[in-house]
Amino acid sequence: MSERVLNETAIGGGGGRNGDAVERATGERRVRVSLGARSYDVVIGSGLIERAGAHVAALVPGAKVAIVTDETVAGHHLAALEGSFSGRAEVRGRFVLPAGEATKSFPELARLTEGLLALGVERGDVVVALGGGVIGDLVGFAAAILRRGVRFVQVPTTLLAQVDSSVGGKTAINTAQGKNLVGAFHQPALVLADTRSLSTLSPREMRAGYAEVVKYGLLGDREFYIWLEQGWRGVVAGNDAAAVTRAVEVSVAAKARIVERDETETGERMLLNLGHTFGHALEAWAGFSGRLLHGEAVAIGMAQAFRFSASLGLAPTEVAARVERHLREVGLPTRIRDIPGPGAPDAAELIALMAQDKKVMAGRLTLILAREIGEAFVTRDVDRAAVETFLQAETA
Ligand code: NAD
Ligand code: GLY
Repeated sequence: MSERVLNETAIGGGGGRNGDAVERATGERRVRVSLGARSYDVVIGSGLIERAGAHVAALVPGAKVAIVTDETVAGHHLAALEGSFSGRAEVRGRFVLPAGEATKSFPELARLTEGLLALGVERGDVVVALGGGVIGDLVGFAAAILRRGVRFVQVPTTLLAQVDSSVGGKTAINTAQGKNLVGAFHQPALVLADTRSLSTLSPREMRAGYAEVVKYGLLGDREFYIWLEQGWRGVVAGNDAAAVTRAVEVSVAAKARIVERDETETGERMLLNLGHTFGHALEAWAGFSGRLLHGEAVAIGMAQAFRFSASLGLAPTEVAARVERHLREVGLPTRIRDIPGPGAPDAAELIALMAQDKKVMAGRLTLILAREIGEAFVTRDVDRAAVETFLQAETA
C-alpha cells in the first residue's frame, strides 16, 4: 500500500470517531480537500500548535519530522510546536530562515533542500512549514523536489496563509522576472490553522490577510461579503474567536471546492486570482518589499478589477465604489497613490509586468473581472489597449 493511501486511512474522511471526539473537546473545525490520493484535511482551531504533534503522529505514525520556520515566527511559536512532538515523533532538526518575501528565492531553496538532505530527511518523513505564505510556499516547493517529493504539513501562522496560501498546493519561489514563476503543485498532507497564533501578528499583517478573506466574498459569495462588511472588525482585530474561525473556515471551504474542481488552474481556479494580475505587477514594481505587502497589493488589485469592470460597463459603478469603501474602511489601500514611498509606476511599466503573469496565453492577458459582488468571471476578451487606457487613468 502506498504511503498516501496509508495517510488517508489514518486521517479518514474528516477525523472518524476519535477525530469527532477531539473536535468536540477542542472546538476544532475540519475542512476536507478531496483530491483522490492527494486528499487532506484543513484543521482550524485555537491552540492547535500545541496539538500539532498529536495530529502529525496520527497522520503518519512513527514518522520523523523536520521543522522550517522564519526568525520572527520562531520567537513566538517554535518552542510550542517542537514541544508538541515530545514523545510523539522525533524531530530531526529545525531551520530558522530570514523573515520576508526575499526568502522565496533560489539561494534559500538551495540552502534548505541541501540542509534537509544533510539531516537525512527521507521520503517517509514529514517536513513541517511553520509560518506565513513565504515559508509555506518555499517549504512546499522544497518538499516537492526533495527526493522527488516528500510529505509536508502546513502550520500557517498568518491570516493570509490560513485562508489562502496553505491550501491548494501551489508552491513557488520568486525570480528576477516576477513572482512565483518557479514552482510546483504539491499538496500538503495536512494543514493545521491555529487561530490563536494570529494574536502575535501585527495589525498591518492582519489587514493584509483580510484582503484574501474578502476576496472569497467578492468572487463568489455575496452573503459572506455582506457578513464581512458588518463584522470585519472582530476578524481584523483577531479578538472575536468565533468570527475569526468562521472567516477562516468559510474561506478555506470556498478555496477547497474550487481546487477540487480545478487543481492545476486550467480554468475556474483562476477566479482565486481576483485582484492578483494588477496586484502582482504592483508588488513587482515595489520590489517585493515591506513597502507593499502581498495582501495590500491584492486589495488595490481587487479595487482596480471592480473599477475596470465598471469602466467597461460590465458592473455598476456603485458596486465598485462599495468595494472600495469597504477596503478603505478596513484600512487597506485601494489606489496606486496609496503606496507609500517615492515614485509611481506608469501604465506601460505595469503592462510589461502583467505580461509575465502565468495566466498569459498566446500573449493575451487573462483578467478576473466582475459583474456584481459575488459574481467574478475569467476573461481573455479584453484588449491590451483597454487595459492600458485604464491604467493610464489609474496612474495619472
Ligand atoms: P509572510 O510569510 O512574509 O508573513 C508576513 C510576516 O509576518 C513575516 O514577517 C512573518 O515573519 C510574520 N509572521 C508570520 N506569522 C506570524 C505570527 N503568528 N506572529 C508574528 N509574526 C508573524 O507573508 P504572508 O502574508 O503570510 O504570505 C505572503 C506570501 O504568500 C507571498 O509570497 C504570496 O505570494 C504567497 N501566497 C501564496 C499563495 C498560494 O496559493 N501558495 C496564496 C497567496 C499568497
Ligand atoms: N492563491 C491562488 C490559488 O491558490 O490559486
